Amino acid sequence: MKKLIIINGPNLNLLGKREPEIYGSLTFTEYYNELVAKYSEVKIDYYQSNIEGELIDKLHEVGFSYDGIILNAAAYTHTSVGIGDAVKGIETPVVEVHISNTFSREEIRHQSYISANARGVILGFGLQSYDLAIQSFL
Ligand code: DQA
Repeated sequence: MKKLIIINGPNLNLLGKREPEIYGSLTFTEYYNELVAKYSEVKIDYYQSNIEGELIDKLHEVGFSYDGIILNAAAYTHTSVGIGDAVKGIETPVVEVHISNTFSREEIRHQSYISANARGVILGFGLQSYDLAIQSFL
C-alpha cells in the first residue's frame, strides 16, 4: 500500500471559517475524510501545524519512508528558507499545493521557497488541488 501524507501549514486549521470567499466553506477534516474514502487503496496521513519548526520536524520524520508528501506550507511557502531546505534534504518527493491561485494574488505570494525542489506544483483548484496531487503519486 502506498503511503502518502498531507502536511498543512499555518492557518489551514481554520479552513471553513477563514476567508471562505478564497478558501471555501468546507473544513479540512471534512475534505480529508472524503479523500480517505475515495482513495481507500492508499494510506493517506494528515498533519497540520502553525509552527515552522514542527513542519520541518514532520518533513524529516516522513521524508525517508513515505512514497509522497503533499505540502501546503501556506504563508511559510513565501518566507521559509528552512522549509525549502528540508524539502531539498529529504528523499520522498514533495508536491507543493495551494488552494488559491497564488499568482493572481499579492506579489509576496508569487515567491515560493519550495517550488524549486518540489516534484511539481498544483495550485488554484480549490481543495481539489490536494486530490490532483494524490493522483500525481498514483
Ligand atoms: C495558500 C496560499 C498562501 O499564500 C496563504 O498564505 C495560505 C494558503 C493556499 O493554499 O492558497 O495560507 O497556501
